[in-house]
Amino acid sequence: MELKDKVVLITGSSSGIGKTTAIRFAKEGAKVVINYHINEEGANETQKEIEAIGGDCLVVKADVSKPEEISMLFKKVIEKYSTVDVLINNAAIPNDKVPYLEATPEDIYELVNTDLVGPMLCSKKAIELMQKQGYGKIINTSSIRGWEYGGRSVVYASSKAGLNSFSRTLAKMVAPEIQVNAVAPGFVKTRNYDKMSEEQCKSFIEQTVLKRWVTEDEIADAFIFLCKNDAMTGQVIYVDAGFTLK
Ligand SMILES: NC(=O)c1ccc[n+]([C@@H]2O[C@H](COP(=O)([O-])OP(=O)(O)OC[C@H]3O[C@@H](n4cnc5c(N)ncnc54)[C@H](OP(=O)(O)O)[C@@H]3O)[C@@H](O)[C@H]2O)c1
Repeated sequence: MELKDKVVLITGSSSGIGKTTAIRFAKEGAKVVINYHINEEGANETQKEIEAIGGDCLVVKADVSKPEEISMLFKKVIEKYSTVDVLINNAAIPNDKVPYLEATPEDIYELVNTDLVGPMLCSKKAIELMQKQGYGKIINTSSIRGWEYGGRSVVYASSKAGLNSFSRTLAKMVAPEIQVNAVAPGFVKTRNYDKMSEEQCKSFIEQTVLKRWVTEDEIADAFIFLCKNDAMTGQVIYVDAGFTLK
């Protein structure tokens, strides 16, 4: 798919991987929908950076764990751009805030609703539009934690493993018009590592074969590749500095 003038909705694009991805798609000439939940300043920064390079974008605040807010998000996108050509389900709570054995049902619902149910509901809305126009791409941001053993964040890992299955299973259901894939990042030094010690950060890198962080741009590269390549569907691509080779 050619990206120029395509409408690309990226959930959770107020910081980190989502923010960099939004700017990269704007550089490709796409019209970008920036979504955030709390970080209005980050969303506005993304918008400023896109406008500085002459890009076209829309900022929408919406909590992807809430069906009514997802409906409002799509309503605003349709009002401005009429459709969605690419949906990147990137918004997520990045790990279990409370360890699983101490978590309340509400703690678990909050994470699963954001990281797994949110992408499912956003995809349903996007598919309605994509089926009408006869094409579209959905990419889910998964994680190395969704691969076999998921580390200490049990609910997060289970949600990402669910997202992998969702990507593969949905891909067959909506073919041939729509392609669905996932990108599973390794350790990308976004704000979630800010409070960790140097020692902890080093221990993550030691677990990779390449002994390095993955950059936000390297994840954006994978998203762009999956949009441009029309032959791939139902794949989970690990961009992980070799973490899953261990
Ligand atoms: N960094 C890594 O090492 C790594 C590794 C594997 C996978 N990932 C995945 O990569 C994606 C991006 O993570 P990141 O590292 O870039 O973290 P980040 O900077 O914390 O980005 C998370 C984004 O999700 C948004 N968000 C969270 N809850 C939301 C909600 N209920 N509704 C709408 N937006 C919501 C945040 O927006 P607000 O701040 O406005 O709420 C923010 O824009 C996530 O799916 C994460 O699981 C990251």
